[in-house]
Amino acid sequence: MTPPVFKTRITELFGIDHPILCGGLMWLADANYVGAVVNAGGMGFITPRSFPTLDDYRAQLRKCREITEGKPFGVNIYVSARPEANVELGVFLDVAIEEKVAFVETAGFSPKAFLPRIKNAGMKVIHKCTTLRHAQSAAKAGVDAIAILGAEAGGHPGMNMIGGIVQGAVVPAGLDVPVVLAGGLGSGRQLLAALALGADGILLGSRMTVAEEIWADDKYKKRITETVESDTRIVMSIFNDNSRVLDNATAKAVNELEEQGITEFEQYRPLVQGPNQRDAYASGDFDQGTLSMGQSCAFANEIASVENIFDDILRDAVAMRDRLGGLAVENG
Ligand SMILES: Cc1cc2nc3c(=O)[nH]c(=O)nc-3n(C[C@H](O)[C@H](O)[C@H](O)COP(=O)(O)O)c2cc1C
Repeated sequence: MTPPVFKTRITELFGIDHPILCGGLMWLADANYVGAVVNAGGMGFITPRSFPTLDDYRAQLRKCREITEGKPFGVNIYVSARPEANVELGVFLDVAIEEKVAFVETAGFSPKAFLPRIKNAGMKVIHKCTTLRHAQSAAKAGVDAIAILGAEAGGHPGMNMIGGIVQGAVVPAGLDVPVVLAGGLGSGRQLLAALALGADGILLGSRMTVAEEIWADDKYKKRITETVESDTRIVMSIFNDNSRVLDNATAKAVNELEEQGITEFEQYRPLVQGPNQRDAYASGDFDQGTLSMGQSCAFANEIASVENIFDDILRDAVAMRDRLGGLAVENG
């Protein structure tokens, strides 16, 4: 494992060696993956909805604790706009509290309703959002840190589609809490750039889908290693719910429905429903389902362990830091 190179408010907050967080990955962020992220010196978040029952979810939390030999880790709580969809989030949180999980990554809509429970349990929370305005209101509500997403991000990059280079310059400057930049990131030079912009670290998603510790079939991972930065698509804009996914046959079919102006969700359901994604990861049939993927797929060039991926990123960050040092004008 690469020894610590950068010390920031994020490494302090999470008690980790490297300012690298790995966001929740629906169906994929299980104990093996999150445990590997923590053991490599970063922080990861288990996605409760990925498991068939609450007992399975609890078992993953216990397994992760074993893998990390007691080192802390996190869970991901994706808050929906529909209150009825959020009822089970309280249950997911209760299980995490019972299992003494240390960190929560909230995402989607405002985490405000869940903050008293999270805070009372002594957990730390990072909220992932897509605008400075939402970041400021989450910070005011009491979150400990913010992950700000650029338009490049896999999953839900928001409706404003603000580029990461802008988010990185705007959001840390507009907040007192530590900020990590996310979306389209997967190289050390981008980690260095994020730090230079004023962020305290980065959060990765797509870059990690090719990790050896991710359970998905190798045919899926191999396809991701072949992608370039233009191999993603935005779908579901028609529902005001931008989703950046792998450009595959299903994503094209969804875009065709949108182009026809169809607004009845039932027509989209067979294409976009979650179990299709799980089946695609299991079989390796990467044309099936809308598979979250950011432009950062460009950096996922080989299947490698989480530790090796981190080593690569840190090596590149150090090389670019040295390059910057070499650009300085003497006495400049
Ligand atoms: C396969 C996949 C599944 C994801 N599932 C979730 C999720 O369940 N909850 C969540 O908050 N974010 C989810 N995300 C978003 C990531 O946590 C992260 O915010 C995003 O991937 C960052 O952008 P990047 O993919 O360009 O690195 C997912 C991303 C990917 C690629």
